[in-house]
Amino acid sequence: MKKENINKIFESIANKYDLMNDIMSFRLHRKWKEKLVNLINIDGKKEYTILDLGAGTGDISNQINKKNKNKSNYSIVLADPNIEMIKNGRIKLKENNLKWLASYGEKLPFKNSKFDFVTMSFSLRNVYNINLTLSEINRVLKKNGQFICLEFGKIKSLTLNSIYSIYSENVIPKLGQKITGNITAYNYLVESIKKFPSQDKICKILKSKKFTNIKFYNLNFGVAVIYICKKK
Ligand SMILES: C[S@@+](CC[C@H](N)C(=O)[O-])C[C@H]1O[C@@H](n2cnc3c(N)ncnc32)[C@H](O)[C@@H]1O
Repeated sequence: MKKENINKIFESIANKYDLMNDIMSFRLHRKWKEKLVNLINIDGKKEYTILDLGAGTGDISNQINKKNKNKSNYSIVLADPNIEMIKNGRIKLKENNLKWLASYGEKLPFKNSKFDFVTMSFSLRNVYNINLTLSEINRVLKKNGQFICLEFGKIKSLTLNSIYSIYSENVIPKLGQKITGNITAYNYLVESIKKFPSQDKICKILKSKKFTNIKFYNLNFGVAVIYICKKK
């Protein structure tokens, strides 16, 4: 899908985005995001820089700040191309270690080797060019910097997969219609999950983009997945 159309979709649901996430995932997305955040280690005296790409309304940064209340040795850039998502995020998050930025992942306005961590949560699926985005992430990470990504995955069990398909194809668009008034956005969500590559394929793509130590953790039987890897 063209980047302008993806942008329109998020623009139209931005003010109901958080509510809809809670409802359609039975609040599970919060647990999954917590698991991602638990993989970020910012202990010690060093100053850490974090980029949350496709930050949306800022859930990942919110959880990083909650988990690290007593630390002041890090700052986060929240980048997202969608101004409406950013506006809603800025209403929610007021901490001054957060800097919001309107940017696509495919062309990041940073010098090389700037960040210790790049996170993405449910946004890699939405970029218009996954190869360019991963190359950019690799470029802006420091050597040994980590890319940690939460996305939807493929469920191995055929039975569970059929149950999940019934739920996502029949229930999610109707819920989306009821809550946001926009069925197209939630048909897009279901389609984008179906089209997104499997866990094995994503690991191959990460390897081709010069990431190393690539691991993934399936969450709830592979409904969601966390990928973690390093820049060589
Ligand atoms: C499903 S939301 C995820 C938001 C947030 N990270 C979360 O987990 O709740 C996907 C986000 O990706 C953003 N996005 C779309 N295209 C993008 C691109 N090319 N580069 C970076 N982010 C993009 C959208 O604007 C949207 O805010």
